[in-house]
Amino acid sequence: MNFIEETVDILDLLYKHNWDERNGGNLSYIIKEEEVKSFLKEEKVIRTYHYDFDMSSIVGKYFLITGTGKYFKNCKKDPENNLGLFKILDKNTIGLLWGLKDGGGPTSETPTHLSCHIERLKVDKEHRLVIHCHPTNIICMSHIHELDENSWTKDLWKMQTESIVVFPEGIGVLPWMLCGGTEIGKATADKMKEYRAVVWSQHGLFTTGKNLDEVFGLIETIEKAAEIYMKIFDKKIYQSISDENLKELAKAFKLTYKKGVID
Ligand code: 13P
Ligand code: ZN
Repeated sequence: MNFIEETVDILDLLYKHNWDERNGGNLSYIIKEEEVKSFLKEEKVIRTYHYDFDMSSIVGKYFLITGTGKYFKNCKKDPENNLGLFKILDKNTIGLLWGLKDGGGPTSETPTHLSCHIERLKVDKEHRLVIHCHPTNIICMSHIHELDENSWTKDLWKMQTESIVVFPEGIGVLPWMLCGGTEIGKATADKMKEYRAVVWSQHGLFTTGKNLDEVFGLIETIEKAAEIYMKIFDKKIYQSISDENLKELAKAFKLTYKKGVID
């Protein structure tokens, strides 16, 4: 399978999980030079797009990016109209090399995606992927839960045994902000210095990682924890996962977990 086939399979799954209604959500994926070379006969810039933040550290890199206004639902049957392959041409410009055939542009969240890539590459050389989606229970939780990150992290960790194992660094949380610009991009990327997942209150989730499986698994685990929270938060609780249990898990799985949450 090439990188396009791999990606549209995940986009299709995200849609089927009901996390990307209509044009909701977007993806950007760093593609290795050798993969681009075997996919494109020649490298020709079709159109360019300009951004007012500094992309110096990623100049020359290739990104597969979903198009603005495009539906995840349609990506598998028509990748060439719904996705674009871009190269970072200089510190403020990206160039389309393939795709978005009907003249469309990259996602409106491109500033956040590229800012997150820049930050995550500083902490993880193997980082390659950013996925934004609109999972129902995460959005529900952001209506009824205080926004404190330690409190979110602790509640999500306590919903199921696997949470702390999958996201030991915890979860970042942003208040409602205007989407689609460099300000929310900067705020999200700032959180990505510490976290691989950031909640956009009343909107959705930004997640990052090394590959499609890892990021999809992160979304699944976080959303499942949020689903359990929404099902039980107002019920009488008879027993739960204690702070001591979380510490036992951390010891058994040799986890480096976020400090200040359970100790
Ligand atoms: P785009 O259609 O521009 O990707 O926007 C969708 C979205 O989820 C905005 O946050
Ligand atoms: Zn969105």
